[in-house]
Amino acid sequence: MTILVTGGAGFIGANFVLDWLAAGGEPVVVLDKLTYAGNLDNLAALRGDPRLVFVHGDIGDAALVSGLLGRHAPRAVVHFAAESHVDRSIADPEAFIQTNVVGTYRLLNAALTHWQALPRPEAAAFRFLHVSTDEVYGSLAPDDPPFAETHPHQPNSPYSASKAASDHLARAWFHTYGLPVLTTNCSNNYGPFQFPEKLIPLIVRNALAGKTLPIYGDGGNVRDWIYVADHCAGVRRVLEAGRPGEIYNLGGNQEKTNLDVVRTVCARLDAVRPRADGRGYAEQIAFVKDRAGHDRRYGIDARKAERELGWRPAESFETGIEKTIAWYLGHAEWVEKVTSGAYRDWMTQQYGGTGA
Ligand code: NAD
Ligand code: DAU
Repeated sequence: MTILVTGGAGFIGANFVLDWLAAGGEPVVVLDKLTYAGNLDNLAALRGDPRLVFVHGDIGDAALVSGLLGRHAPRAVVHFAAESHVDRSIADPEAFIQTNVVGTYRLLNAALTHWQALPRPEAAAFRFLHVSTDEVYGSLAPDDPPFAETHPHQPNSPYSASKAASDHLARAWFHTYGLPVLTTNCSNNYGPFQFPEKLIPLIVRNALAGKTLPIYGDGGNVRDWIYVADHCAGVRRVLEAGRPGEIYNLGGNQEKTNLDVVRTVCARLDAVRPRADGRGYAEQIAFVKDRAGHDRRYGIDARKAERELGWRPAESFETGIEKTIAWYLGHAEWVEKVTSGAYRDWMTQQYGGTGA
């Protein structure tokens, strides 16, 4: 038995594969296009491990995907592959439509054809787990209750619109064709292997480099933060015991303003890697132009996953940040390697002359 993991060389996908195999899970076939966000080094700990087969390719390549499903006969597809960065979706949405919408459609279709040909017991056990985001639900007012699974989709960015479209496709493939689809909608992840274009690793990198810590707008936007290992444990649990056709919200129960997040990161760095001049990293904070259409608040109600599956996150924001910062401090080479020429081009395009 195997599972097929798409996007397994990206941030969450790689954490998932590493944790899955460490927990004694079945062999894994990873399908990843290795975009700027995908990095085989994220799976370096598994180099030479016969339990991992890596395939370089696109989820939108129907022939490739059908061939993989036929050859490896996975008992599940866990679908992480996506274009995932909101700012890039604003700058250039095309890849988001191609991968998140068209790619997910092709993957669902290939999985359906494969599933329809399976003998009855294998078909009954087969699962397609679609990994999605809380951003599909839109933006909350300060006093609104957090998003429940029943909240309408109100996506506001090209990224969240493309993910909402993929959620709808996943839902339709269950309702129309009976493909046993599970969907998870999770809040903001942080932890090892996150590409330093996202807030937390970007702040760590810039702080250590003596650069500006760019905060969009007034810094009052709120996100719910979950340590990536908790998200991966939630995905494992949904795969194990979730009911086909259902949506499960996963979250960290840790709503914070961006300013609070950045100050927490700075305080931790002050403690473990103080600046040579003895001043605080928070002095590097700079308020910069806001993100277009910037959602004000996300919050996740994950009580369904807790009630039905007994899943809940283990880390608080403080413990998760300690682990995350320790990881980045211990992996300077990884950061150096992934922040190559193309990364610098993006930083200049996005932050211009702010020093970020
Ligand atoms: P990421 O950008 O770090 O990784 C995405 C991976 O997908 C990369 O390895 C990339 O090479 C691969 N990929 C991209 N296009 C592909 C294609 N066409 N075919 C095959 N592989 C392709 O993303 P992430 O942060 O790890 O997010 C993974 C998933 O989790 C995404 O679906 C995202 O929407 C979802 N999600 C992310 C978060 C978060 O906070 N990062 C929160 C909730 C949900
Ligand atoms: O909510 C889940 C989503 O979280 C995932 O679906 C996305 O894939 C993931 O990228 C993340 O989206 P965000 O837009 O919330 O993450 P990001 O790290 O880009 O930004 C977090 C917050 O910080 C957001 O309010 C924007 C702000 N920000 C971000 C950057 C990069 C800044 O203030 N400055 C920055 O330089």
